[in-house]
Amino acid sequence: MELKDVIEKRASIRTFTDEPVSAEHIKEIIRRAGLAPSINNSQPWKFIAITNEEIIEKMGKIVQKKVLEYFPHENIKEKMMAQAKVLRFSSFFMDAPVLIAVEMSPYQTVIEELLKGRELSLEDVNRLRNYPNIQSIGAAVENLILSAFDLGYGACWLSGLLIARNELEELLSIKSPNTLAACVAIGKPREFITQRDKKSFEQIFTLID
Ligand SMILES: Cc1cc2nc3c(=O)[nH]c(=O)nc-3n(C[C@H](O)[C@H](O)[C@H](O)COP(=O)(O)O)c2cc1C
Repeated sequence: MELKDVIEKRASIRTFTDEPVSAEHIKEIIRRAGLAPSINNSQPWKFIAITNEEIIEKMGKIVQKKVLEYFPHENIKEKMMAQAKVLRFSSFFMDAPVLIAVEMSPYQTVIEELLKGRELSLEDVNRLRNYPNIQSIGAAVENLILSAFDLGYGACWLSGLLIARNELEELLSIKSPNTLAACVAIGKPREFITQRDKKSFEQIFTLID
């Protein structure tokens, strides 16, 4: 598919058919994710593809338990509705044939040497540069999602499940200093969804000439 079409037609997909995503396609999607730009070409990512239904189910249950713990509805209607929404948006991946977990390594560069004995800590630099490792992960995840769409799948980015980050990191054997940065659910879309409404061009564009 033309890149322009992929970008214009992509939409987040949260319901999937039972059709599996082939191992070949999973690998190709991740290969393309790994081609994204990253701070100093550090490629601070690893991708864990989970196709095991039991593990995906287990992850979903862990997330649901956390949501219920953090957002009890106390039989108040509005809270019940909000809780149902959070549950849906953080655990819909339980129906996906594949879930890609994105593992991120910390931002570390030669700059660390220059910081020794200075006022700026690595965390200060990280903040000043607006967390370049997280920005790099964003680029890789976008590559991943666009590639999934290009190969005929639907996908959705997930950060909601990070409510149970510690538990998920343990389950997936992600060891400190690495962290679970995000997940992406992928599968054949159960429904056809067109690009959602976006801000107008005028709202998002300024030209300084
Ligand atoms: C960083 C990030 C985190 C997201 N986390 C979730 C999530 O946890 N659950 C979910 O259902 N969608 C999640 N999304 C998808 C957004 O809700 C979606 O992109 C947005 O509503 C716009 O819709 P579109 O992707 O169809 O254009 C996330 C998107 C981004 C970029």
